[in-house]
Amino acid sequence: MDIEDKIMTLEQAVAWHGKLKAEGRKLVATNGVFDLLHRGHAEYLAKAAQAGDALLVAINSDESVRRIKGPSRPIVTEGDRAYLLACMSFVDAVVIFAEDTATNTLAAVRPEIYAKGGDYTEETLVREEYFVMKEFVEKFVFIPFVAGRSTTSTIRKVNGGAMGESAEATDSGLNPKLNLLYGRRSVRQYQKRPVGDDLVQELLKAAMAAPSACCKDPWHFIVLKKEETRRQVAALLKNGGFLADAPMGFVVCGDLTKAHGGELSYLLQDCSAATENLLLAAHGLSLGGCWLGVHPRLERVEGIRRLLDLPDTMIPVAAVAIGWPAQDLKIRTRFRKDAVTER
Ligand SMILES: Cc1cc2nc3c(=O)[nH]c(=O)nc-3n(C[C@H](O)[C@H](O)[C@H](O)COP(=O)(O)O)c2cc1C
Repeated sequence: MDIEDKIMTLEQAVAWHGKLKAEGRKLVATNGVFDLLHRGHAEYLAKAAQAGDALLVAINSDESVRRIKGPSRPIVTEGDRAYLLACMSFVDAVVIFAEDTATNTLAAVRPEIYAKGGDYTEETLVREEYFVMKEFVEKFVFIPFVAGRSTTSTIRKVNGGAMGESAEATDSGLNPKLNLLYGRRSVRQYQKRPVGDDLVQELLKAAMAAPSACCKDPWHFIVLKKEETRRQVAALLKNGGFLADAPMGFVVCGDLTKAHGGELSYLLQDCSAATENLLLAAHGLSLGGCWLGVHPRLERVEGIRRLLDLPDTMIPVAAVAIGWPAQDLKIRTRFRKDAVTER
C-alpha cells in the first residue's frame, strides 16, 4: 500500500477493516499522540502489530493534543505525525481523531485487539472507554514502554532541561547542570493516565535517599493507590482539592518514636527532605507533583490520622499529588539578593 493510502478517514478505515474481517484477519488498534517519533514508539508499535494481522494507529489531532497537553504541543503537526507513522512497515493504517479520546474512532472501526502502553492494565483503562471497547474487543494487550525513551525527555533535552519554550531555558542564565532542580515546579493538573508501580517504587527509593538527622529515617510513606482514598485526603486539604484528580499520591508521615532525640523538629526536617526528594524524582521521571501542606494545621493532621487510622505518634507532615503533567511550567528560580547576607 502507498504511504499516503495508509492515512485514512474514519469511513475508509471502517471499510478497510470490513475487508480484513472478510479475509478472516484480525485488526489491532492503538492510539496516542506520537509527537516526535522515537525508538520507544517504534518498538511499541512493532510489538502491537505482532498481536494481530494488521495495525491501525489512531492519533490525536493537533487541536486535541493542545487541549490535553497544553499550548506548546504538539511539536509535529498531525499531517506529519500521520505520515511518519504510515512510513513504518508494520503500520497499516493511520486515522486522525479530533476528540480528546479515541473512543468514537475505535467504536466505529471495532478492532478485535486493542493495544495500550504497559503502564495501563484492564483495570486502569479509563472506564468509559473500556466499557465501550469491551463490546467488540476480543483481546487487550499491554506493551511495556522502553525505558528512558519519551517525547517529554527529548523536549527537555532540547530545551536544556525545561518543559516550556526553549528560549526560556537558554535566556534564564541558569546552570543546566541543575535543571532537575530548576525545572521542578508544582504541577497541579494531570493527564488521565495511571502511574505504574515501577515508577512508584522509584519515587519511594528516591524519597528514602534524603538526608535525615543521625540517619534515623523516621519517615513512613502512605501510597494513595485508591482513587477513593485520594478523594478523601483531598477533601481534608484546604488547598489540595486537585489531589482527587491525580492518578496517585502520597502522605509523608514521621514516626515520633523513631525521630532523632524523639524531637518533632528533626522529624519535620527529615520528612520535608524526603518530600522534596519525591518531587525532584517525579520531575526527573517526567512526572509532575505538588506538595500539599498538612503539618502544622491541626485539623488536617488529625483528619488524616483518623482517616488512615494512624497512631498518635505517627505525624502526617505533607501530602503529595503525583501524575503525568497536563500543564507546561517554566524553569525558574526565585532567587533574591536580599534573601542573602554575607558575613
Ligand atoms: C510546606 C509547603 C506546603 C505547600 N502546600 C501547598 C498546598 O497545600 N497546595 C498547593 O497547591 N501547593 C502547596 N505548596 C506548593 C507551593 O505553593 C509552591 O511550591 C510554591 O508556590 C512555589 O512554586 P513551585 O513549586 O512551582 O516552584 C506547598 C509547598 C510547601 C513547601
